[in-house]
Amino acid sequence: MKFFIDTANLEQIREANDLGILDGVTTNPSLMAKEGISGNEAILQHYKDICDIVDGDISAEVLSTTYEEMIAEGETLAKIHPNIVVKIPMIKDGVKALKYFSDKGIKTNCTLIFSAGQALLAAKAGATYVSPFLGRLDDISTDSLNLIEEIRLIFDNYDYSTQILAASVRHSMHIINCAKIGADVVTCPLQPILSLLKHPLTDSGLEQFIKDSQKMI
Ligand code: E4P
Repeated sequence: MKFFIDTANLEQIREANDLGILDGVTTNPSLMAKEGISGNEAILQHYKDICDIVDGDISAEVLSTTYEEMIAEGETLAKIHPNIVVKIPMIKDGVKALKYFSDKGIKTNCTLIFSAGQALLAAKAGATYVSPFLGRLDDISTDSLNLIEEIRLIFDNYDYSTQILAASVRHSMHIINCAKIGADVVTCPLQPILSLLKHPLTDSGLEQFIKDSQKMI
């Protein structure tokens, strides 16, 4: 399973990348705005900076919602770096844009996926990734993991190469459950990745080993 970090914060991207387990980055307009990135030039420069840190797929989301505008914006984003993945919302014009970019060999990530039907349409249109949002489904008391299972089954039934990129991942159990189901990628903030490291028995065991190692010197 691939690990992407879901942030536009360069420091956190560097920290995750330094761990040696990072395969890519996802961003969205809210995450970019949180870092104070505004204006065309600053946006493009920020994506360049991310591409300089991480050697992997970097999702850059279009801000427009009409077919023509998404094509123009996506083409500009795709020119930044070969690792840029054009992130497109699951709307009617978005499906058409996915097909356009897929035909041109430009990678895409279809975002805001909340149903198996949406994922199926995006796969049919040739999306590289679909992003089902787990945490936001949990927030409205819906079984988000069941959605991942459904999408996995459908993609396997028809051998779709579209990858399931589990998004809106809030904690380490989301990551473990996605791995059990067979999501291709999880994207999440740095904290849930770091919390995979932690176990109280590891901490107490190491403390004891350090203590005992003093007797060996
Ligand atoms: C996915 O690509 C989104 O950027 C992200 O995972 C949304 O997460 P949130 O629901 O925690 O905002």
